[in-house]
Amino acid sequence: MSHTASHVVIGASRGIGNDLAKQLFEQNAGGTIVGTMRKADESVLPKGVQIESLDMTKQSSVDSCAAKFGAIDTLIVNAAMGSPDTMLGSDASLLSSYLETNVVGTHRAVLAFLPALRKGKKKQIILLSSTSGSCDLQRNEPSGFQGPYSVSKTATNSLGIQYHNELKDEGFTVLLIHPGWVATDMGKQINDGRGAKTTQQSASDILKILSNLKPEQSGSYLRETGEPLNW
Ligand SMILES: NC(=O)c1ccc[n+]([C@@H]2O[C@H](COP(=O)([O-])OP(=O)(O)OC[C@H]3O[C@@H](n4cnc5c(N)ncnc54)[C@H](OP(=O)(O)O)[C@@H]3O)[C@@H](O)[C@H]2O)c1
Repeated sequence: MSHTASHVVIGASRGIGNDLAKQLFEQNAGGTIVGTMRKADESVLPKGVQIESLDMTKQSSVDSCAAKFGAIDTLIVNAAMGSPDTMLGSDASLLSSYLETNVVGTHRAVLAFLPALRKGKKKQIILLSSTSGSCDLQRNEPSGFQGPYSVSKTATNSLGIQYHNELKDEGFTVLLIHPGWVATDMGKQINDGRGAKTTQQSASDILKILSNLKPEQSGSYLRETGEPLNW
């Protein structure tokens, strides 16, 4: 059966993606909210959110999830791996894992969901990026997630720009968004998450931006506050 979805959130098992799916559902904006997980677990999202299995590193998993949808308005690629690994402390296989999950996995998902997005009303592709993806901000930066995570998020930014270039004439809006420093399993690896935003606040900030997103903003790289970031 072919489903229609207003939003598909990839990586909704925990962290920011979990709150994005919850809050989208609570807003009850009409249309089905879908949360994907590597291991489908209905207990982590409200009843009524459609839960699907999807592992971004597995082509067949991404394809079989995407094939269930006839039309989607907004795809949010939130899933990623991240730890404070250094570049010189990362061997080729660790760098490959970051690129496979955060970059190739994102591309796999975007390509697989593209036919449904083309049939959707909004044609929005939202990629969760990071200030770690900004070469400008990374230069001489002493802290935060750097190394291979940063490389993968810079590449995510580049993916977003290429999607923007190739899809803008079809009416697509592609956005790269930094969610803030957030107290998730990922974010708590820095300073135990002390001083970080809650997932609730981050998701609410992101959804506020999405609620007013205009096609002319396509190709932007924004903080969760709406402020533009330097590349
Ligand atoms: N937290 C921060 O401070 C921060 C700052 C800047 C940017 N970000 C970005 O914000 C996004 C969300 O981060 P978060 O802090 O919420 O992370 P998180 O709590 O570590 O959650 C990561 C999510 O990604 C999923 N995931 C990981 N590998 C996957 C794969 N191969 N296929 C499908 N799903 C996969 C995880 O699923 P499982 O439960 O199955 O592992 C989980 O749902 C990421 O893109 C991250 O880079 C976060």
